[in-house]
Amino acid sequence: MCGIVGYIGNKEAAPILIKGLHQLEYRGYDSAGIALLGSGCNEIKVFKAKGKVANLEEKVDAALSSESQQTSLTTGIGHTRWATHGEPSETNAHPHVSMSGDIALVHNGIIENYKLLKEQLESNGYEFKSHTDTEVLVQLIDYYYQRNGKQLVKAVNQALNKVIGAYAIVVMEKSNSNHLVAARKASPLVIGLSNDNTEFFVGSDATPLVEYTRKVIYLEDEQIADIYIGKDIEITNLDETSADITIKDVDLDISALSKGGYPHFMLKEIFEQPHCIENTMRGRIIMREDGLYEIKLSALTNFKAKLLRARHIIIVACGTSWHAGLIGKQLIEDMCRIRVEVEYASEFRYRNPVIEKDDVVIAISQSGETADTLAAIQLAKQQGALVFGIVNGVGSSIARESDTGIYIHVGPEIGVASTKAFTGQVTVLTMLSLALANAIGTISEEEFQTTCHELTQIPQKMEKVLEQNDTVENLSSMFTYARNFLYLGRGYNYPVALEGALKLKEISYIHAEGYPAAEMKHGPIALVDEEMPIVFLATHHQLYHKIISNMQEVQSRNGRIFAVVTEGDEDVKKISEQVVEVPNTLNCLVPLLSVIPMQMLAYHVAVKKGLNVDMPRNLAKSVTVE
Ligand code: F6R
Repeated sequence: MCGIVGYIGNKEAAPILIKGLHQLEYRGYDSAGIALLGSGCNEIKVFKAKGKVANLEEKVDAALSSESQQTSLTTGIGHTRWATHGEPSETNAHPHVSMSGDIALVHNGIIENYKLLKEQLESNGYEFKSHTDTEVLVQLIDYYYQRNGKQLVKAVNQALNKVIGAYAIVVMEKSNSNHLVAARKASPLVIGLSNDNTEFFVGSDATPLVEYTRKVIYLEDEQIADIYIGKDIEITNLDETSADITIKDVDLDISALSKGGYPHFMLKEIFEQPHCIENTMRGRIIMREDGLYEIKLSALTNFKAKLLRARHIIIVACGTSWHAGLIGKQLIEDMCRIRVEVEYASEFRYRNPVIEKDDVVIAISQSGETADTLAAIQLAKQQGALVFGIVNGVGSSIARESDTGIYIHVGPEIGVASTKAFTGQVTVLTMLSLALANAIGTISEEEFQTTCHELTQIPQKMEKVLEQNDTVENLSSMFTYARNFLYLGRGYNYPVALEGALKLKEISYIHAEGYPAAEMKHGPIALVDEEMPIVFLATHHQLYHKIISNMQEVQSRNGRIFAVVTEGDEDVKKISEQVVEVPNTLNCLVPLLSVIPMQMLAYHVAVKKGLNVDMPRNLAKSVTVE
């Protein structure tokens, strides 16, 4: 939700900020803005535009090239917005400047008590232009700034002590172009440093920083960073005590941040999946010298006793990660015979859940920043559970808050619709279930070896599914007219049906529902007519024949069937309008293959409808507000 950048140094800030905003645009794209300052400037220059960062870029380029630039503008902050308070408009776009013109600020998060603060500020003569909670924050900082002798860090501290809510902010002051202040609570913020303190970069994540530096500081909750050119960064806590600073090396592949010849990030990320899950398994599934497989998960080694004691596992997640959790439940229950519940993090955190001392809570999150998932694990920790994170975002809040965990290592996922993170999460859940089952003794050695072997074969089987991209593209044109879709699957394919429906909704704006196939008769069948496309996940497993019966029920009502089948299947072909084949594999590994046609179908339908696949309306990649 919202992307933030900041820069101070010896270069022109505008191009660095704009580039950074492009890289963070997946976090929000309903308006964007930057504020600039240089030594000798007598005002903070602010540029804003509604819509995409490209609109802002055009405006900034035009303004800066037409102005005879006397001073270079080497300090700046920028923002790309996903609206929470106030409609998307230039007035509501960030940066916001205080009434005095002394302070500018960008903000990601929500100020929950903004109404009360606004009333107090209005009674002190402050006037507001926008409908945002953020403008309240900049005026509040200004209020303290004017009263404390213009000490910016102190004013930020005083203001944040009055604020209830979540924030990541970067603040600049007109009177000092060598100075930025950054702070966070429950919204991520990363600071990048040059070797000699001549340049500093700030970002909502490390993506816009890595081109310039690999040395970063991940700001912790309720910390304020004082960033001065030529000086070491100082970090204080909200109670004004000084905080320890840990500088980390960030390891991010810059090529992952470009489309690499694909028309969209989403398509690139769909095609990256074989390679990504090889990375997920690398060094974790190992073939020993005796030719037998072994699974090595350091997270398991460190907390083995606690994990083996667990009789109850709760998985918390949102969206696509929640669907991966549903597959995790089946894997763990099948292999380990441990009871698993899968909870929407947003519900779990507010409903007084029963958590016992030996329970394990698994949090699944691509970004590692989802506010509800983070709050859910904080609650679980307070109640004594062991928190196990399955996360992609290295160094993210959920990764840091977890007691232990496993990174999925699929690289940055930029497309707003999650694809490779899902298969990475399911791969980790499979390895975890296998390793646990092996340690507990609920799986035979033969089953363990066969499943490990089959898992290592999945990347090449994924390649075979991807070869059918053209087939899916061709058949997708038949479905662009549809207003509703049904996705049906059973067992391990039921969460895939949910995921297929979510992908289609997100990027093609077609209403879609996923159901367990047998539930169709209890309601959804009423929707079936000759216009209704129904996607069946009909791969070979013990309920295959029952799925065929469900398909016949649809066929006799003239529904249009698109099916995902196991290679060589002839029976389903006879009753389907279109089929896509996936190679044969073990039932528990099928989702890793059957989800790919779901992703491709959603992608091609959206492209055929002329929609912006990577930035669907109203969505943001990382949901850091509840
Ligand atoms: C769907 C999608 C979202 C996310 C959800 C959780 O394509 O991207 O549903 O899965 O917002 O996000 P993370 O996994 O980052 O916690």
